[in-house]
Amino acid sequence: MIFQADKIDLLVPKWLMTARKMILESFSQKIEIETKTSRNDLVTELDRKIEQFLVGKIQKYFPGSQIVSEETRPSINEIEEESLLWVIDPIDGTMNFVKQKSDFAIMIGIFQAKKGQRGFIYDVMANQLYHGGPDKGVYCNCQKMISPPDLHLADGLLGVGGVMLINNKYNLQKIALASHGIRIYGSAGIEIIHVLNGQLIGYLSHLHSWDLAAGKILAETLGLTVKTIDGQEVNVLSSIDVLVASKNAQKDIIMMAQSHC
Ligand code: IPD
Ligand code: CA
Ligand code: CA
Repeated sequence: MIFQADKIDLLVPKWLMTARKMILESFSQKIEIETKTSRNDLVTELDRKIEQFLVGKIQKYFPGSQIVSEETRPSINEIEEESLLWVIDPIDGTMNFVKQKSDFAIMIGIFQAKKGQRGFIYDVMANQLYHGGPDKGVYCNCQKMISPPDLHLADGLLGVGGVMLINNKYNLQKIALASHGIRIYGSAGIEIIHVLNGQLIGYLSHLHSWDLAAGKILAETLGLTVKTIDGQEVNVLSSIDVLVASKNAQKDIIMMAQSHC
C-alpha cells in the first residue's frame, strides 16, 4: 500500500477531533475503570471506545493496514514491507485522564516500509494537535514548528519516568541534579510534546511501542535524537528504555549514565 499523505493528513485530524468529543462527553457520565497489571495501570471504557473507533476508521479508509494498538492488538509478528503500519495509543496518560482530567494524549504513529511517515500527538484538553513527518516538518495545529535549541543537560529541564528515578536506574538521580530540574507529567505523549517545543531538553523513560511511535517520528523530524540510553537505534515495536533529547543533552546524559562514580 502506498503512503497516501494527503488522505492521512485530511482524515486523521478529523478522527481525533471526534475522539476528543467522545472524551469531553464522558466527563458528565460515569465510566467503567479497570486495573490491568497493577492498581496504577488503568484502562477505562474510553480507552477501548476510542481504540475501536480509530481501528474501525483505519480498516474502512486504509484496508490492508497493519495495526498495533495498546488495548486489543498489542503486537504483530512481523512488519509487512508493503502495508502501512499504524501504532495507536488511544489514551496516553490514562491515570491523568481518570484523576486529573488533563495532561493526557491520543497518539498515532504511521510507518511504511519500516520508515516513520506521520506522527500525531493530540493534547486533548489543550486542543493542540502535534503532527507531521519527514516530508513536511512538524506542526502544532496550523503553526509550523522550528527545531528546539540544542541545549546541554545543565541548561534545561529533564522529563523522567517516576519509577526509573526512584530506582536510580542509570544514575538518574545524579543526572537529574545536573539538570535545571526534573519534571514528571505521567504521559509520555505530553512529555514528548514538551521536548518538541523546547520546554524540556529531554525525556527518559521505559516505553512501549504505542507510547513512543508518534513521538519518535515527530522528534526525529525536528532533529532531536531518539535512542536507547547507550545510543543505539530503537526498534519501535519493542518495549525499551528510551531517551528523547537534544543532541547535546543526549551526549551529557549518556556520559553520566555510564559513569559509576
Ligand atoms: C503510560 C504513560 C506514562 C508512562 C508509562 C505509560 P498509559 O501510558 O505514558 O507516562 O510512564 O510508561 O505506560 O498506560 O497511560 O497509556
Ligand atoms: Ca494508553
Ligand atoms: Ca501510553
